[in-house]
Parts: sequence; C-alpha cells; structure tokens
Amino acid sequence: MDKQHGEHNQINMKYVTLVSIVAALGGLLFGFDTAVVSGAIGFMKEKFGLNEFQVGWAVSSLIVGCILGAALTGIIADKFGRKKVLIAAALLFIIGTLGSAIPSTFSGYIIARMIGGLGIGITSTLCPLYNAEIAPAKYRGRLVALNQLAVVTGIFVVYFVNMGIAGMGDHAWGVDNAWRWMFGVGVIPGVLFLVLLFFVPESPRWLITQGRPADSLPILVKIHGEELARQEVLDIKESFKEKQGSLRDLFKPGLRLALIVGVMLAVLQQVTGINAVMYYAPEIFKQAGAGTNGALVQTIMVGFINFIFTILALWLIDRVGRKALLLIGSSLMAVCLLVIGFAFQTGHTSGLLILISILVYVAAFAISLGPVVWVIMSEIFPNHIRGKATAIASMMLWLADYVVSQSFPPLLSSAGPAITFWIFGVLALFTFLFTWRVVPETKGKSLEQIEEIWSAKQA
Ligand code: GLC
Repeated sequence: MDKQHGEHNQINMKYVTLVSIVAALGGLLFGFDTAVVSGAIGFMKEKFGLNEFQVGWAVSSLIVGCILGAALTGIIADKFGRKKVLIAAALLFIIGTLGSAIPSTFSGYIIARMIGGLGIGITSTLCPLYNAEIAPAKYRGRLVALNQLAVVTGIFVVYFVNMGIAGMGDHAWGVDNAWRWMFGVGVIPGVLFLVLLFFVPESPRWLITQGRPADSLPILVKIHGEELARQEVLDIKESFKEKQGSLRDLFKPGLRLALIVGVMLAVLQQVTGINAVMYYAPEIFKQAGAGTNGALVQTIMVGFINFIFTILALWLIDRVGRKALLLIGSSLMAVCLLVIGFAFQTGHTSGLLILISILVYVAAFAISLGPVVWVIMSEIFPNHIRGKATAIASMMLWLADYVVSQSFPPLLSSAGPAITFWIFGVLALFTFLFTWRVVPETKGKSLEQIEEIWSAKQA
C-alpha cells in the first residue's frame, strides 16, 4: 500500500505538533544548561576563588554527566520505555539545577552539575528519538528539528537572562547570589517539562517492540487515522520480526554503515567547531579587537542568527532533504572557517570580516549540521535497536563536545586562532565529502522504509 498517498488529509497535525513541542522542551533545557555557565563562571570564580583547572571543571562537569546520561539512555529507554525515562530525566534535571544554585561548596556544585548533565544527556538523545517515533514520515524532519529549535532558543534566552542577572553583580550581595539565580531560573522550564510529560503518549513504536500492538493502535489512530494506523502497526511489527535488540547487530554489514553514518555525523557536528563559538564567542570577538560591550552585542547576534536560521531549517528539512542541507551547510561553513583563519593569520581582524564570517558560519550550521544531525541520528536506526544505537551516537557527540571545549582554549593560545580555525575548516570540508559519498537521503521515508536502505546494502 502506498502510504504517502492521502496521508496528509488524515494526519492530526495539531495533536502531533503539541506532543512534539512538549518533547522538544527537553531541548530547551539542553540549550539553557549548556550556555548558562558562561555567564555564571565569572561570579563563581570570585565566590569560590577558583583556579584555571577548577574553572575548566565548572564548565565541563555538565558535559561529563551528559556523556554518561547519553550512554545510559540506550539501555533504559529500550527497557522501560521512552516516556518513563523522559520523566526521570526531567527529575534529574530539576535536582541538578537546584543543586547547582544552592551549594555552599564547589564540590557540591560539581556533583549537582553532573546530575543535571545526566538528565541533559538523556533528553538530548531521547527527545529527538521520541519525536521521530511518533511523527508521520512526511513531517518527521521538521518535528524532530523542533528539538534543535528549542536548543537554540534555550541558548538565546540564557544570553539575556545572564545579562539581566549580571547587573545584580554590582550590588554587594551580587557575587554571592547572581550566579545562583542564573542556574536557578532553569527550574521553571524543568518543572514545565516534567508536568507536561504526563500528558504525552508512550511511543507507539516502542510499545510494538514490547509486544503491545493493542496499546499502540489507539495512539497511531490519533496521529494518522484508523486506516493508516492499522497499516503502520503491521509495518512496524514486520520491521522487527525475529530480531533481538542486540548491539552485535550493529556491527554486521548493512547496519554497520548506519552506525558509521550516525557516529561520524555526531562527531563531525562537534569537531567543526560550533561550540568553540557558542561557549567562547566573547573571547573570540575580544581577540579580534572588540571591547567588552561590543563582544557582548556580537555574541547576542550569534544567538539571534542561530535562532532565525534554525527556523529556516525547519521549513527546508522535509522539502529539500537532509543531505542537500548538509552539503550546502558544510561547504559554507568550510569557506567561513578558512576565511576566519586567514583574517587572523594576516591581521585583518578589524572591520567586519571576522564578525560576518562567524555569523555566516553559524547560519550555515543552523540550517545543516545543527538540526540535521540530530534528525538523522534519530531516524537511521531500525526499530529493534534504535534506543541503543542512537545512544551510542549521542554519547560520541557529547564526548567530541567535551574534547573540543576542553582543547579550544589551550589550542588558541599555543597554535593561535588561525591554525585553530583552519583545523575546523578542514574538518568541515571532510564533512562535505563524507556526506556526499556516504550519507543516504531519508526525507519522506517511513522509519521502516529507512531500515530497508541498510538491508539493501547488506545484500
Ligand atoms: C547542536 C549541538 C550543540 C550546540 C548547538 C548550537 O544542538 O549538538 O552542541 O551547542 O547545536 O546551536
């Protein structure tokens, strides 16, 4: 049966969109939590008298938690279901957020950030995956990319929250309290996420892998209408018939390629430097000669461009497809990175060259690697192994994030900005080539049809 036919008319877009927005709130927490520390760190340095090493820990403890959380997701989300694990992640996030806001010792803060990181590691993996599992094929790219829109919204909002709260630092009590408020604000989206999760359904695909098609049918009917829902149940059942959820499957020919695509894209999303810009933008602008205020305004421009172009990506992803966006974005990113390196190398840092190149670079990332990688990671693996496989890719993404964010400051001071940006540029070129030669287009295909791509490669 041709499922694309007549699908549009029967889809309950309002329901699917609302459910996807709730799950995407996890992305808001992700963006908020990874960005908030940049504003808090100055105050914390003063309050706790931190040395360079401790500053590094203050920033990266969250990411260490994320690596563990992502790794854990694979096992627990396949065993307990998507919804329960998302609820647990929301709780971890709230505990971590409160814990980072109220500790009296630095080690208390580190532990709390790791707990929050567990929550973020889980939601970053599971929210896109959940959205992929409930979305109708035709709109899946957009619905999953909603998560990335929430991530960049979180980052953008944090810039303002931090700026507003930083003003309190002028008061005598500010040093002790400003940073606490910065972290504490995160409780609001955290609680909202937790409460709303109780109103979303379990993933119908997960229910079927658990031998509960009867429970999944009403959910699919609500999404697709009666007729398509029955066909979906059959397709999903067929897709995992006689298959165990064993990790060993991932290393067999066919699926091995899916794993390579997922992991490589996850790592490439990070090693092309986005978080060097996201976490250290003011530093970069200062090195290029901007004053403190100028650097702040330029950083806000980065957040704004990231936000606007992610919206554009939502509109494009199911129209032009994942692969085309990746190719356009990675080539533009490569050009910008090479130009930034060149500007630093030749001392052309005044004027607008660096600012414009960084803004175009961020725009290019926002229409490509930003949303598309999370979408592809959530859709390329088969039903019977999706949780575990997506978790491996997500864990690698966080690991790469850790490596880049830790090595960027020393690299900048030892090798200099030119070489550093050229390294990112060469990796962006590699991303282009890898996508062109290896990544399949998944636009418009049902998750079960995507599974067939890998079976065909096995033959
Ligand atoms: C993606 C990346 C994340 C980055 C963000 C920036 O979500 O995974 O690391 O901070 O995009 O927009």
